[in-house]
Amino acid sequence: MKSKTRFICQNCGASFPKWAGKCDNCQEWGTLVEQVGIPETEAKSALKKAQVSGKKLDYAGISKIEAADSKERLKTEFEDLNTVLGGGILMGSVNLLAGQPGIGKSTILMQICAEISKTRPVLYVSGEESAGQVKMRAVRLGAESDNLNFASSTSANDIAKTIETSEFALVIIDSIQTLAMDEISSAPGTVSQVTNCGNLIIRAAKATDTAVIIVGHVTKEGTLAGPKVLEHLVDVVINFEGDRYGGFKTIRAVKNRFGSTSEVAIFEMDEKGLKEVKNPSAALLAERQNTDGSIILATLEGTRPILVEIQALVAPSNFGYPKRTASGFDLNRLQLLIAVIERRTKLKLDDKDIFINVVGGMKLNDSAADLAVCMAIASATAGRKLSEDYVVFGEVGLGGEIRSAFRPDQRIAEAKKLGFKHAIAPATTKDKFVIPAKDLRETLIKYVNEK
Ligand code: TYD
Ligand code: MG
Repeated sequence: MKSKTRFICQNCGASFPKWAGKCDNCQEWGTLVEQVGIPETEAKSALKKAQVSGKKLDYAGISKIEAADSKERLKTEFEDLNTVLGGGILMGSVNLLAGQPGIGKSTILMQICAEISKTRPVLYVSGEESAGQVKMRAVRLGAESDNLNFASSTSANDIAKTIETSEFALVIIDSIQTLAMDEISSAPGTVSQVTNCGNLIIRAAKATDTAVIIVGHVTKEGTLAGPKVLEHLVDVVINFEGDRYGGFKTIRAVKNRFGSTSEVAIFEMDEKGLKEVKNPSAALLAERQNTDGSIILATLEGTRPILVEIQALVAPSNFGYPKRTASGFDLNRLQLLIAVIERRTKLKLDDKDIFINVVGGMKLNDSAADLAVCMAIASATAGRKLSEDYVVFGEVGLGGEIRSAFRPDQRIAEAKKLGFKHAIAPATTKDKFVIPAKDLRETLIKYVNEK
């Protein structure tokens, strides 16, 4: 029987009969990989067999079913991480920890193992590092315990079998990209390997109520290479983000079948591993120098208020086309805000390069950062500082109007706590602390434009 070759896009999973440089479905370049699939006749006979082999479902009244969250949760030593997970790692849940290489995934998992293996048996499986390497890290992080076991393996079959023994409360798999299933010929990390290995492991975890954490590497652009398909299969997806060289790193849930996705945990790496940062605002503002172009934004990370410095640098463009760069802030949003400033105020920016930096490696995901970014740009252009007692928040609309922000009370409370005197904030915010801002032009003229 002739087996059929297909080309599968590793980004979106679309399948093509011929190879091409660009995927027609998702427009990504260089993502098609050859895969030898099962022959069509075999697939047809499998379908026939499946039609007769099914049994009636074993259903039960919903009121009689035990809720999933009534199960035990394994607590990590990190309080905020437990909150992100919805109260700890749920027994029987499969969790995907996604992040760029080098961000600290293996480190935090070893720290989690250290805590949980104090009371429960844990297995750490690595397909990337040798036993010796993992041991070194375990010693450094103080994770040596009789309950913590290590195996080096890249076989999904073996790992699933091991999970099925029910010997472990928690199994760590580092990483999904290294795993392969014997029955599948394609290379590790391809869509079919990732999906099938994932399914095999999920089944074993559910059958035995074992908690599993799977590591998935993501590319620089933030997409889960390969494991994107895994996101749909697992219960919880947590993203590890930030700068791999210093700065703050955040862990947030992007999917959680057993909890909310609005919480974040903030970490810092030192020689003893990762540490939770309990007061990020104070740490972020510690090195502040009040210059022009520097604005303190009262933002939210999940439901947590944080004060963070936004810096703008504005310089004349050398070439006809002005350069715009943003670190920690969405570049498209920056372009839009620049257009709004140009159209709604008299500020001329089309001959200037603009650079925006969010201090401390934070990645803003908050529309209320708009006003602070606009003020930073205006302040840098005019060379005029904003008084250091002020924090800023508010969304800027296309008409230059300043719109209300989510959870203003928490932002204000955090600013008060850190000794600020006023907040320049949307006029709808009712608080004595707030200096109401209605319109972008008025606000810029009043606080940061040239006099
Ligand atoms: P690692 O956890 O191996 O990253 P990942 O598994 O996500 O690829 O480690 C990331 C970096 O952290 C590594 O380059 C070394 C550094 N590091 C520390 O600074 N302190 C520590 O205690 C450890 C274990 C690692
Ligand atoms: Mg690693």
